[in-house]
Amino acid sequence: MSGPDPSLAEGSHRSDIALRLQGITKRYPLVLANDHIDLEVRWGEILALMGENGAGKSTLMKIVYGLVSPDEGSIQVDGQLAKIHSPADAIRLGIGMVHQHFMLVD
Ligand SMILES: Nc1ncnc2c1ncn2[C@@H]1O[C@H](COP(=O)(O)OP(=O)(O)OP(=O)(O)O)[C@@H](O)[C@H]1O
Ligand SMILES: [Mg+2]
Repeated sequence: MSGPDPSLAEGSHRSDIALRLQGITKRYPLVLANDHIDLEVRWGEILALMGENGAGKSTLMKIVYGLVSPDEGSIQVDGQLAKIHSPADAIRLGIGMVHQHFMLVD
């Protein structure tokens, strides 16, 4: 198992933007959960994502963490296009997640 990408270590960033989401869209059969979401998070920035129940916050975070595949849009980590297909991919890129609900093995 490989660890986090060493090029993402403190002080050696390629871009001022740690995470950039562009046009992230996720449709479920009955609802458009994320509608072309653009979001930038800078290194060291602490951001609160706020919205009513069902607004699409968890869906967006699950996309960043590789648990849900977006229908459209792109993710960049430190200025590089990131292909995040699983939590393992996310962790390699330095992205962690603390879930709202317990996520234990069934
Ligand atoms: N796996 C799924 N299948 C179908 N619909 C889903 C699925 N996951 C989420 N949704 C729907 O997508 C919408 C966004 O849900 P999401 O869980 O992202 O909202 P949220 O902002 O995290 O809400 P909460 O504040 O309640 O945690 C809701 O209408 C929800 O019912
Ligand atoms: Mg949620």
